[in-house]
Amino acid sequence: MAKQKWDSRYSTGIERIDHDHRELLALIDRIHDMFVQGRYGKSDYLGVLESLSDYVAGHFAFEEKWMAEHNYPGLSEHRLDHERFSREVSKAVDSFKNGVGGLTLTLLTFLKVWLISHITVLDADLGRFDRERCGHASVIGF
Ligand SMILES: [Fe+2]
Ligand SMILES: [Fe+2]
Repeated sequence: MAKQKWDSRYSTGIERIDHDHRELLALIDRIHDMFVQGRYGKSDYLGVLESLSDYVAGHFAFEEKWMAEHNYPGLSEHRLDHERFSREVSKAVDSFKNGVGGLTLTLLTFLKVWLISHITVLDADLGRFDRERCGHASVIGF
């Protein structure tokens, strides 16, 4: 499975969100490298998964606040998808803590596929919404 590098099609045009997405992709890249190299222990995996969990918590909170502040109509659907990811990551963290987890290809694939599809579908909609909102605001003279 290939590493997931930043691509311009991931850009939403909302600076803080794009910055966070770059960081998230870099974190998942790190997990990918650890998986491929296979020379890390459970505590390393746990550490990187906890970093991912902390980072997404801050990122999701920012996006959800942004959506609420801008009366974004898709907030509930978007939040549900965030919750799905957070649930999977915390399940993985818990199983590592309980000594039953391993960094599997299934987990790595889920992290990558979820992140890319979320960024290119639901987060991309935030960018479109923002562009339309700004375009409209400038036309009517705000
Ligand atoms: Fe999102
Ligand atoms: Fe996002």
